[in-house]
Amino acid sequence: MIVRKAVIPAAGMGTRFLPATKSMPKEMLPIVDKPVLQFVIEEAVASGIEDILIVTGRGKQAIENHFDYNPELELFLHSAGKQHLADQVRGIGDRVQIHYIRQKEQLGLGDAIRLARAHMGSEPFAVLLGDTIIDPPEGQSPGLRQLLDAFDVTQASVVAVHRVPPEWVSRYGIVDGVPEPGRDDLLRLKKLVEKPAVNVAPSNLAIAGRYIFTNAIFDCIDATQTGVGGEIQLTDAMNLLAQQAPVYALAWQARRFDIGNRLEYAKCFIEMALRRPDTGEALRVFLKGLLGDAAG
Ligand code: G1P
Repeated sequence: MIVRKAVIPAAGMGTRFLPATKSMPKEMLPIVDKPVLQFVIEEAVASGIEDILIVTGRGKQAIENHFDYNPELELFLHSAGKQHLADQVRGIGDRVQIHYIRQKEQLGLGDAIRLARAHMGSEPFAVLLGDTIIDPPEGQSPGLRQLLDAFDVTQASVVAVHRVPPEWVSRYGIVDGVPEPGRDDLLRLKKLVEKPAVNVAPSNLAIAGRYIFTNAIFDCIDATQTGVGGEIQLTDAMNLLAQQAPVYALAWQARRFDIGNRLEYAKCFIEMALRRPDTGEALRVFLKGLLGDAAG
Protein backbone atom coordinates (compact mmCIF):
# COMPACT_ATOMS: atom_id res chain seq x y z
CA MET A 1 0.00 0.00 0.00
CA ILE A 2 1.28 3.43 -0.98
CA VAL A 3 0.23 6.65 0.77
CA ARG A 4 -0.41 9.48 -1.70
CA LYS A 5 -3.02 11.53 0.14
CA ALA A 6 -3.20 13.44 3.41
CA VAL A 7 -5.86 15.19 5.41
CA ILE A 8 -5.14 18.26 7.50
CA PRO A 9 -7.82 19.09 10.08
CA ALA A 10 -7.91 22.87 10.48
CA ALA A 11 -11.45 23.57 11.62
CA GLY A 12 -10.84 24.23 15.34
CA MET A 13 -11.92 27.55 16.84
CA GLY A 14 -8.49 28.41 18.24
CA THR A 15 -9.93 29.68 21.52
CA ARG A 16 -6.53 29.58 23.23
CA PHE A 17 -5.37 32.31 20.83
CA LEU A 18 -8.23 34.77 21.18
CA PRO A 19 -8.40 37.61 20.38
CA ALA A 20 -5.91 36.93 17.51
CA THR A 21 -8.12 34.11 16.22
CA LYS A 22 -11.38 36.03 16.30
CA SER A 23 -11.06 36.71 12.57
CA MET A 24 -7.92 34.72 11.66
CA PRO A 25 -7.49 30.93 11.65
CA LYS A 26 -4.93 29.78 14.23
CA GLU A 27 -3.28 27.73 11.45
CA MET A 28 -2.38 31.05 9.78
CA LEU A 29 -0.44 32.39 12.78
CA PRO A 30 2.97 33.35 11.41
CA ILE A 31 6.34 32.00 12.45
CA VAL A 32 8.28 35.13 11.44
CA ASP A 33 6.84 35.42 7.89
CA LYS A 34 5.41 31.96 7.18
CA PRO A 35 2.04 30.67 8.42
CA VAL A 36 2.12 27.51 10.54
CA LEU A 37 -0.03 25.67 7.99
CA GLN A 38 2.50 26.37 5.24
CA PHE A 39 5.17 24.59 7.33
CA VAL A 40 2.79 21.63 7.67
CA ILE A 41 2.04 21.47 3.93
CA GLU A 42 5.74 21.79 3.06
CA GLU A 43 6.46 18.83 5.37
CA ALA A 44 3.77 16.77 3.59
CA VAL A 45 5.10 17.67 0.13
CA ALA A 46 8.72 16.99 1.15
CA SER A 47 7.53 13.59 2.40
CA GLY A 48 6.04 12.69 -1.00
CA ILE A 49 2.33 13.50 -0.49
CA GLU A 50 0.61 14.50 -3.76
CA ASP A 51 -2.90 15.35 -2.63
CA ILE A 52 -4.13 17.16 0.48
CA LEU A 53 -7.64 17.58 1.85
CA ILE A 54 -7.93 20.42 4.34
CA VAL A 55 -10.89 20.31 6.72
CA THR A 56 -11.90 23.91 7.34
CA GLY A 57 -14.90 25.60 8.91
CA ARG A 58 -16.55 28.99 9.25
CA GLY A 59 -14.09 31.88 9.27
CA LYS A 60 -11.26 29.92 7.68
CA GLN A 61 -11.30 31.54 4.22
CA ALA A 62 -7.81 32.96 4.76
CA ILE A 63 -6.50 29.40 4.37
CA GLU A 64 -7.98 28.97 0.89
CA ASN A 65 -6.79 32.42 -0.13
CA HIS A 66 -3.25 31.68 1.05
CA PHE A 67 -2.87 28.62 -1.18
CA ASP A 68 -4.56 30.26 -4.18
CA TYR A 69 -3.12 32.73 -6.71
CA ASN A 70 -3.40 36.45 -5.97
CA PRO A 71 -2.97 38.23 -9.35
CA GLU A 72 -3.28 41.76 -7.93
CA LEU A 73 -0.59 41.16 -5.34
CA GLU A 74 1.66 39.49 -7.94
CA LEU A 75 1.19 42.43 -10.36
CA PHE A 76 1.98 44.89 -7.61
CA LEU A 77 5.15 43.00 -6.66
CA HIS A 78 6.23 42.84 -10.33
CA SER A 79 5.78 46.57 -10.82
CA ALA A 80 7.64 47.23 -7.56
CA GLY A 81 10.58 45.21 -8.91
CA LYS A 82 10.10 42.46 -6.32
CA GLN A 83 10.11 39.56 -8.78
CA HIS A 84 11.41 36.98 -6.30
CA LEU A 85 8.55 37.78 -3.88
CA ALA A 86 6.03 37.57 -6.73
CA ASP A 87 7.35 34.10 -7.65
CA GLN A 88 7.34 33.07 -4.01
CA VAL A 89 3.70 34.00 -3.36
CA ARG A 90 2.57 32.41 -6.65
CA GLY A 91 4.32 29.11 -5.93
CA ILE A 92 2.89 28.53 -2.42
CA GLY A 93 0.02 26.27 -3.47
CA ASP A 94 1.51 24.94 -6.70
CA ARG A 95 3.42 21.89 -5.56
CA VAL A 96 0.46 19.80 -4.44
CA GLN A 97 -3.24 19.33 -5.21
CA ILE A 98 -5.23 20.94 -2.40
CA HIS A 99 -8.92 20.24 -1.75
CA TYR A 100 -11.20 21.62 0.94
CA ILE A 101 -14.18 20.35 2.88
CA ARG A 102 -16.03 22.16 5.67
CA GLN A 103 -16.90 20.77 9.05
CA LYS A 104 -20.23 22.38 9.83
CA GLU A 105 -20.24 21.63 13.56
CA GLN A 106 -17.31 21.35 16.00
CA LEU A 107 -17.84 17.69 16.84
CA GLY A 108 -14.19 16.82 17.39
CA LEU A 109 -11.06 15.58 15.64
CA GLY A 110 -12.55 12.14 14.93
CA ASP A 111 -15.52 13.76 13.22
CA ALA A 112 -13.21 15.99 11.14
CA ILE A 113 -11.28 12.94 9.89
CA ARG A 114 -14.55 11.16 9.11
CA LEU A 115 -15.27 13.90 6.54
CA ALA A 116 -12.29 12.62 4.51
CA ARG A 117 -13.88 9.21 3.90
CA ALA A 118 -15.15 9.79 0.36
CA HIS A 119 -11.93 11.54 -0.68
CA MET A 120 -9.67 8.75 0.57
CA GLY A 121 -11.74 5.83 -0.80
CA SER A 122 -9.93 2.58 -0.01
CA GLU A 123 -6.43 4.14 0.10
CA PRO A 124 -4.34 4.49 3.24
CA PHE A 125 -3.76 8.15 4.09
CA ALA A 126 -1.79 10.48 6.35
CA VAL A 127 -3.14 12.95 8.91
CA LEU A 128 -1.14 16.05 9.83
CA LEU A 129 -2.57 18.29 12.53
CA GLY A 130 -2.63 21.84 11.18
CA ASP A 131 -1.37 23.38 14.44
CA THR A 132 1.76 21.27 14.88
CA ILE A 133 5.24 21.88 13.45
CA ILE A 134 7.58 18.89 13.48
CA ASP A 135 11.26 19.73 13.69
CA PRO A 136 13.48 16.69 13.02
CA PRO A 137 17.13 16.76 14.09
CA GLU A 138 19.60 18.06 11.48
CA GLY A 139 20.07 15.57 8.65
CA GLN A 140 16.96 13.47 9.39
CA SER A 141 13.97 13.05 7.05
CA PRO A 142 10.89 15.28 7.45
CA GLY A 143 8.55 14.10 10.21
CA LEU A 144 5.87 12.58 8.00
CA ARG A 145 8.51 10.85 5.84
CA GLN A 146 9.76 9.02 8.94
CA LEU A 147 6.23 7.82 9.63
CA LEU A 148 5.74 6.77 5.99
CA ASP A 149 8.98 4.74 6.20
CA ALA A 150 7.54 2.98 9.26
CA PHE A 151 4.29 2.33 7.34
CA ASP A 152 6.30 0.75 4.50
CA VAL A 153 7.41 -1.83 7.09
CA THR A 154 4.18 -2.31 9.07
CA GLN A 155 1.57 -1.86 6.28
CA ALA A 156 -0.73 -1.02 9.18
CA SER A 157 -1.92 2.18 10.86
CA VAL A 158 0.91 3.97 12.67
CA VAL A 159 1.06 7.13 14.79
CA ALA A 160 4.03 9.26 15.84
CA VAL A 161 4.57 9.61 19.60
CA HIS A 162 7.06 11.34 21.85
CA ARG A 163 7.79 11.31 25.57
CA VAL A 164 6.35 14.19 27.56
CA PRO A 165 6.86 15.33 31.16
CA PRO A 166 4.16 14.18 33.65
CA GLU A 167 2.50 17.60 33.78
CA TRP A 168 1.80 17.43 30.01
CA VAL A 169 0.23 13.95 29.96
CA SER A 170 -3.35 15.20 30.41
CA ARG A 171 -3.02 17.46 27.32
CA TYR A 172 -2.52 14.65 24.81
CA GLY A 173 -3.58 11.24 23.52
CA ILE A 174 -1.45 8.71 25.44
CA VAL A 175 -0.51 5.24 24.13
CA ASP A 176 0.55 1.94 25.62
CA GLY A 177 2.10 -0.97 23.72
CA VAL A 178 4.86 -3.54 23.39
CA PRO A 179 8.05 -3.04 21.37
CA GLU A 180 8.29 -4.86 18.06
CA PRO A 181 11.06 -7.47 18.10
CA GLY A 182 14.32 -5.85 16.97
CA ARG A 183 12.89 -2.29 16.92
CA ASP A 184 12.85 -0.31 20.13
CA ASP A 185 11.34 2.73 18.34
CA LEU A 186 8.24 0.83 17.14
CA LEU A 187 5.47 -0.32 19.50
CA ARG A 188 2.45 -2.47 18.77
CA LEU A 189 -0.33 -0.65 20.56
CA LYS A 190 -2.65 -2.24 23.10
CA LYS A 191 -4.40 0.82 24.44
CA LEU A 192 -4.85 4.51 23.62
CA VAL A 193 -6.45 7.05 25.96
CA GLU A 194 -7.32 10.66 25.18
CA LYS A 195 -6.11 13.22 27.73
CA PRO A 196 -5.91 10.89 30.78
CA ALA A 197 -5.21 12.17 34.29
CA VAL A 198 -1.54 11.55 35.00
CA ASN A 199 -2.25 9.01 37.77
CA VAL A 200 -4.21 6.72 35.41
CA ALA A 201 -2.18 7.33 32.21
CA PRO A 202 -0.72 4.09 30.81
CA SER A 203 2.59 5.82 29.89
CA ASN A 204 4.01 9.23 29.02
CA LEU A 205 4.12 8.55 25.26
CA ALA A 206 2.00 11.29 23.68
CA ILE A 207 0.45 11.37 20.22
CA ALA A 208 2.45 13.95 18.27
CA GLY A 209 0.04 15.13 15.58
CA ARG A 210 1.10 12.88 12.66
CA TYR A 211 -0.70 9.64 11.74
CA ILE A 212 -1.03 7.11 8.90
CA PHE A 213 -4.32 5.20 8.70
CA THR A 214 -5.71 2.36 6.68
CA ASN A 215 -9.31 3.06 5.75
CA ALA A 216 -10.49 0.73 8.54
CA ILE A 217 -10.31 3.81 10.78
CA PHE A 218 -13.53 5.18 9.28
CA ASP A 219 -15.74 2.34 10.58
CA CYS A 220 -14.06 2.75 13.97
CA ILE A 221 -14.85 6.49 13.99
CA ASP A 222 -18.48 5.65 13.18
CA ALA A 223 -18.54 3.26 16.15
CA THR A 224 -16.96 5.81 18.53
CA GLN A 225 -19.09 7.41 21.23
CA THR A 226 -18.66 10.99 22.35
CA GLY A 227 -15.58 11.19 24.59
CA VAL A 228 -13.46 13.74 26.46
CA GLY A 229 -14.73 17.30 26.03
CA GLY A 230 -18.02 16.06 24.55
CA GLU A 231 -16.24 15.38 21.23
CA ILE A 232 -15.75 12.39 18.91
CA GLN A 233 -12.10 11.66 19.67
CA LEU A 234 -9.77 10.20 17.05
CA THR A 235 -7.78 8.56 19.85
CA ASP A 236 -10.90 6.61 20.95
CA ALA A 237 -11.45 5.41 17.37
CA MET A 238 -7.79 4.31 17.22
CA ASN A 239 -8.28 2.43 20.48
CA LEU A 240 -11.18 0.52 18.85
CA LEU A 241 -9.01 -0.13 15.77
CA ALA A 242 -6.17 -1.46 17.95
CA GLN A 243 -8.56 -4.09 19.41
CA GLN A 244 -9.23 -5.53 15.95
CA ALA A 245 -6.12 -4.86 13.80
CA PRO A 246 -2.45 -4.02 14.30
CA VAL A 247 -1.83 -0.34 15.15
CA TYR A 248 1.73 0.87 15.77
CA ALA A 249 3.42 3.87 17.34
CA LEU A 250 6.73 5.27 16.12
CA ALA A 251 8.62 6.87 19.02
CA TRP A 252 10.65 9.41 17.09
CA GLN A 253 13.36 11.87 18.00
CA ALA A 254 11.84 14.83 16.15
CA ARG A 255 10.85 17.81 18.24
CA ARG A 256 7.32 19.03 18.06
CA PHE A 257 6.02 22.56 18.43
CA ASP A 258 2.41 22.48 19.60
CA ILE A 259 1.20 25.77 18.17
CA GLY A 260 -2.14 25.29 19.95
CA ASN A 261 -0.23 26.29 23.11
CA ARG A 262 0.76 29.95 23.58
CA LEU A 263 4.11 29.32 25.24
CA GLU A 264 5.11 26.69 22.65
CA TYR A 265 4.14 29.11 19.89
CA ALA A 266 6.33 31.82 21.38
CA LYS A 267 9.25 29.38 21.72
CA CYS A 268 8.83 28.20 18.14
CA PHE A 269 8.76 31.77 16.80
CA ILE A 270 11.93 32.73 18.69
CA GLU A 271 13.83 29.56 17.83
CA MET A 272 13.00 29.76 14.12
CA ALA A 273 13.88 33.46 14.03
CA LEU A 274 17.23 32.68 15.70
CA ARG A 275 18.00 30.14 12.95
CA ARG A 276 17.36 32.50 10.06
CA PRO A 277 20.26 34.37 8.47
CA ASP A 278 18.20 37.58 8.10
CA THR A 279 17.03 37.80 11.72
CA GLY A 280 19.18 35.40 13.77
CA GLU A 281 22.21 37.46 14.70
CA ALA A 282 20.40 40.69 15.52
CA LEU A 283 17.80 38.81 17.57
CA ARG A 284 20.52 36.96 19.51
CA VAL A 285 22.14 40.28 20.45
CA PHE A 286 18.76 41.75 21.40
CA LEU A 287 17.80 38.75 23.57
CA LYS A 288 21.16 38.75 25.33
CA GLY A 289 20.73 42.43 26.17
CA LEU A 290 17.13 41.94 27.25
CA LEU A 291 17.81 38.92 29.45
CA GLY A 292 21.00 40.45 30.78
CA ASP A 293 19.04 43.52 31.87
CA ALA A 294 16.27 41.38 33.38
CA ALA A 295 18.78 39.27 35.30
CA GLY A 296 20.51 42.39 36.58
C1 G1P B 1 -5.25 16.35 19.58
C2 G1P B 1 -5.46 14.85 19.79
C3 G1P B 1 -4.47 14.32 20.82
C4 G1P B 1 -3.06 14.63 20.37
C5 G1P B 1 -2.93 16.14 20.15
C6 G1P B 1 -1.59 16.49 19.57
O1 G1P B 1 -5.62 17.05 20.75
O2 G1P B 1 -6.79 14.63 20.21
O3 G1P B 1 -4.62 12.92 20.94
O4 G1P B 1 -2.11 14.19 21.33
O5 G1P B 1 -3.92 16.63 19.23
O6 G1P B 1 -1.49 17.88 19.47
P1 G1P B 1 -5.91 18.65 20.75
O7 G1P B 1 -4.57 19.31 20.72
O8 G1P B 1 -6.71 18.93 19.52
O9 G1P B 1 -6.65 18.92 22.02
